[in-house]
Amino acid sequence: MSRRVATLVTGERTRAQVREASRAERHRAAEMRREQRERDRQLKAAQKAIWAGDYLPPEGEAGPRMGRSLVPAHARAERATTRVLRTQYPFVAEEGLGSAGAYIGWDKLSRTAFCFDPFELYARRIISNPNITVSGAIGSGKSSLMKCLALRSAAFGRKTFVPGDVKGEWTPVVKAAGGAVISIGGADGAKLNPLDEGRRPERDLDGKVVTDELWARTVQRQRHSLLGALTSALLGRPLDQDDHTALDTAIDATVKRGGVPLVPTVVEELLAPSLTAGLPLGAATSEQLAAMGRAAGLALQRITRTGDLAGMFDGPSTVRFDPAAPMMSVDLRNIPQGSEALPLLMTCTGSWMESALRGADLGQRYMIYEEAHRLMPLPGLLDRMRDQFKLTRAWGTANVIVIHRLSDLDAVGAAGSRERAVAEGLLADTSTRVVYRQESDQLEAARRTLGMSEAAVRAVSHLIVGSGLWMVGKRTFLVGHQRTRWEAQVTDTDAGMGAGA
Ligand SMILES: Nc1ncnc2c1ncn2[C@@H]1O[C@H](COP(=O)(O)OP(=O)(O)OP(=O)(O)O)[C@@H](O)[C@H]1O
Ligand SMILES: [Mg+2]
Repeated sequence: MSRRVATLVTGERTRAQVREASRAERHRAAEMRREQRERDRQLKAAQKAIWAGDYLPPEGEAGPRMGRSLVPAHARAERATTRVLRTQYPFVAEEGLGSAGAYIGWDKLSRTAFCFDPFELYARRIISNPNITVSGAIGSGKSSLMKCLALRSAAFGRKTFVPGDVKGEWTPVVKAAGGAVISIGGADGAKLNPLDEGRRPERDLDGKVVTDELWARTVQRQRHSLLGALTSALLGRPLDQDDHTALDTAIDATVKRGGVPLVPTVVEELLAPSLTAGLPLGAATSEQLAAMGRAAGLALQRITRTGDLAGMFDGPSTVRFDPAAPMMSVDLRNIPQGSEALPLLMTCTGSWMESALRGADLGQRYMIYEEAHRLMPLPGLLDRMRDQFKLTRAWGTANVIVIHRLSDLDAVGAAGSRERAVAEGLLADTSTRVVYRQESDQLEAARRTLGMSEAAVRAVSHLIVGSGLWMVGKRTFLVGHQRTRWEAQVTDTDAGMGAGA
């Protein structure tokens, strides 16, 4: 393309001025040609460098399994439909999970929209259970992702329950969705009775009609599982046979005494048995039974009479669970963040909500356990949670555990120990693992625990906020979560840092 240079003339000019102007024009035109030649030269050199191997060696990239060839590649632009291309170029990009479910964001590898619905994928047998683990460094965007998933999934009729919202950050989201928030702690906090019977489903997991006897057994098992987990966490050891027998007898006696069974009554029965339910085999006298239950009784007394949990779980529930609400959360922001009792509290609220959600007729729902890493050091609590995961799958619940660091698993116990197996079992029970940015010292733990490839580990170390590696069954995606402006406002947790302004 040739370009011309001209002078803008306004008014009369002398001969000398005309000569001067045309000399300047010629000079500028020559200068521009020179510049153009230089640009062409640089472009040519850059293109040549690509094929000469500066960017890509002619024989292919170095490294194992990179498909190196001694013959330089000659690429030719080609157009074809994806139907043809997928057989011509297999394994280049994922076809995606389809468009069913909530839109999450941008699949960075295949450059398509990424949608996700664990129930749909479970029905298609792409995953073996609908449970999800989300792990990532502090502030990497885990909760935002879950909040958007919950809000967007509401359009598909999925409900969301958050039993332990430690920071109270779900409250605006739940309110925006027209759900109910239960606030615990503080001056006017609600009381929850973790021994509430909960919802009685018409049929049990095996499809059998729930008779009175079966129901009583189910409730007894649930109460034992909760109090057993709490006691073991408080004692810092697994329960022995004496503890189990005393606990069972105390719960039985509490129920037989009539009225609403409460934790303080169980404590009373442990420390000074009333023998309402008689003596269990193995205890000849009430003194012997009291001796068997003394450790458990004293431990449980710590959470009912003293400590951070006093006054929260020692009476009948002052709120009712509303299973029809599209979203529900238990706001724990009034509980001191560093409180040692927080994991116990989360377990109580979790158990209360889980028992209220029994049954397959409540529709498919998410149960989101935020800050689940706080339970990691307490295998008893994890054990209970894992059992719960197994139960709820049949009832259409997708359990989501949100954790910070995968090395927390190492703190649970040495590799191969029972405690460690419990924690790893919890992860093994989640078919979908979303890994957000990890601190560099966490990469090895992530690789080991989640069975990530080297390429996946490399990708995770470079992720930005809101982007994550999704391992869905055996397939992997790199996804950038996208939020609308309204979602960004309602899910923002940086307001205190000035970003909210
Ligand atoms: N997809 C995204 N795009 C841009 N910003 C995001 C995205 N997701 C989250 N953020 C921002 O990052 C901040 C932290 O997000 P979020 O609270 O979800 O992180 P987190 O991983 O749950 O943190 P924590 O570990 O403290 O619970 C929020 O203020 C949020 O607005
Ligand atoms: Mg969070």
